[in-house]
Amino acid sequence: MKIAVIGMGNVGSILGRRWAEAGHEVTFGVREKSDTKTQAEAKAMKASIGTVAEAAAKAQVVVLAVPWKAVPEALAAAGNLSGKVLVDCTNPLTQDLSGLEIGTTTSAAEEVAKKAKGAKVVKIFNTTGAPNMANPKYGAVSLPMLYAGDDADAKKVAAQLAKDVGFEPVDVGPLTAARLLEPMALIWITLAIRQKWGTDFAFNLIKRPGK
Ligand SMILES: NC(=O)c1ccc[n+]([C@@H]2O[C@H](COP(=O)([O-])OP(=O)(O)OC[C@H]3O[C@@H](n4cnc5c(N)ncnc54)[C@H](OP(=O)(O)O)[C@@H]3O)[C@@H](O)[C@H]2O)c1
Repeated sequence: MKIAVIGMGNVGSILGRRWAEAGHEVTFGVREKSDTKTQAEAKAMKASIGTVAEAAAKAQVVVLAVPWKAVPEALAAAGNLSGKVLVDCTNPLTQDLSGLEIGTTTSAAEEVAKKAKGAKVVKIFNTTGAPNMANPKYGAVSLPMLYAGDDADAKKVAAQLAKDVGFEPVDVGPLTAARLLEPMALIWITLAIRQKWGTDFAFNLIKRPGK
């Protein structure tokens, strides 16, 4: 698929690399496409680079991997995303990572959907740390990747992209379920940072045998 990854930080660069390795046509949408370090990083991944608008225009799937406060600017730069799958990885974290700026009655994903009119938003890749996206295998176990959205076809695309990274996708329901997925990220962050677990841990799901 043609994938635009907006944001080339911890999350964007790892996901983009994994998808390029899986054979997808990845273009990073960045603010400074003339930056030589960024260009070299993209080239090493066999990915392309462009402005946010250029990357989004040619993509079937647009991945939002920017800080929460940058979302309005990034979406404005992306232009018209109507009809595209919009993969939302963001968490609306407070500055000190102790809480969420919004939640319970809405979610970052729902706010993204309001701004990106007509885009098929799927909330995914937000509930675990970037190191687990780089390596979602714990021994024989593939980590679950929970996702939520309102468009069945877009959710199929997002689930396949999670598989391509090495996750086991888990459908949590409509986009409003992002209200559950975003606080879940805070549990991971709290354990990782405040409880000093570091990043080599993850949530797993287990079913009773035979069920
Ligand atoms: N880090 C994690 O483990 C993790 C896990 C799950 C979800 N998340 C969520 O994923 C999102 C990205 O996190 P991250 O850790 O990857 O952040 P990050 O490392 O700080 O990278 C953010 C990227 O966004 C770009 N960016 C910032 N403002 C932009 C704008 N207006 N337009 C286009 N690009 C812009 C930055 O580019 P510049 O170089 O131009 O600033 C940078 O490449 C956040 O919402 C975060 O909460 C993070």
